[in-house]
Amino acid sequence: MLRFLTAGESHGPCLIATIEGIPANLPFDNVALNAELRRRQGGYGRGARMRLEQDHAEVLAGVRHGKTLGSPITLRIENKDWANWQERMSAAPVAEPPEAVTRARPGHADFTGAIKYHQDDIRNVIERSSSRETAARVAVGGVCRQFLAQFGIAVHSHVLAIGPVGDPAAPRDLGPAAWHDDFWARVEASPVRCADADLTAQMIAHIDRIRKAGDTAGGIFEVVATGVPIGLGSYSQWDRRLGARLGQALLSIPSSKGVEIGGCGTAAQPGSQVHDVLRHDAAGWSHLTNNAGGIEGGISNGEPIVARVALKPIPTLAHPLPSVDLATGENIDTSRYERSDVCVVPAGGVVGEAMLAIVLADALLEKFGGDSLEEVRAHVAATSEL
Ligand SMILES: Cc1cc2nc3c(=O)[nH]c(=O)nc-3n(C[C@H](O)[C@H](O)[C@H](O)COP(=O)(O)O)c2cc1C
Repeated sequence: MLRFLTAGESHGPCLIATIEGIPANLPFDNVALNAELRRRQGGYGRGARMRLEQDHAEVLAGVRHGKTLGSPITLRIENKDWANWQERMSAAPVAEPPEAVTRARPGHADFTGAIKYHQDDIRNVIERSSSRETAARVAVGGVCRQFLAQFGIAVHSHVLAIGPVGDPAAPRDLGPAAWHDDFWARVEASPVRCADADLTAQMIAHIDRIRKAGDTAGGIFEVVATGVPIGLGSYSQWDRRLGARLGQALLSIPSSKGVEIGGCGTAAQPGSQVHDVLRHDAAGWSHLTNNAGGIEGGISNGEPIVARVALKPIPTLAHPLPSVDLATGENIDTSRYERSDVCVVPAGGVVGEAMLAIVLADALLEKFGGDSLEEVRAHVAATSEL
């Protein structure tokens, strides 16, 4: 129902995103969209690039007088660093090409991309495999978030662990009462997007230690969507399952190595401790717990959707690992360092929010679709839950 493409190199002139399928007449708030872009740039552990860029989405198409038109929406985010890279990233041939990048960083796309695309300059790989691309996804997610807000759906994220700090497996309430404004205010105020002040201090200390050691840190963030209606997604085919769609979207975030939906470690517990008892009263449907993370049978069950994502430590190390020089085939003692982040788990969470918003907007349109906001609203209002 909803599709989008992004384009752009990390040090090219800009990133572009085109979104198709957002209904007409959705009020479009560019200030709120840019606030999302700024959230992605933050988080303790980011590098110098994020201090240089001040991401801002310019609307090139699909919006008029503050409302969407139902036509494709195109957004452009300028790369301020382009000014320093015009010659090196020139689309036209240059008289003196810059020295090729040939030492592959373990853990990045350098080796796989160079072999796959038959490149003798790794620069041609890393310009697109760089996570700068996620700025465009956050812009797309920002539009989806504004659409979801029309139906009372909100999307958030918080950090559970950075390196060994934090206990992501600790049993917690994942139901609606857990996700209140005060919790999210504490997350937004924390430099590592963690609601717990003690853990925040320990995470910051860990990032400082890791930075000093010339190393990098991974971690785990959690994304949460509240206000999701019952009935998004389906068990009818493998690729319609909401959890499967969310899994793919979250695993598409660079560095993500694992996604878990709902309660922690449920595989190890007996069913009687895991399954969420269904209740019904005057207020409607509810469950006593939310170990399913809001999805049963591939369909949203009305509880908050909760998923955790494990990010590996980022690959660019100030003290680089051994590798191979792809130009000579020679084993070398150190690969290569270029300006880099040390820990991106808080920013990863903001990208995770965007991916969750995109999946939910798509699933909402699939069930209640319409060409205008008014039409989608009428379809939502006409749908009974038994
Ligand atoms: C928001 C964000 C920022 C990132 N910044 C960096 C970075 O500065 N340096 C780096 O080596 N990797 C960074 N990464 C991770 C790499 O982009 C990623 O590891 C790489 O593209 C290889 O993909 P893979 O880890 O999924 O295999 C970042 C990831 C995210 C989500």
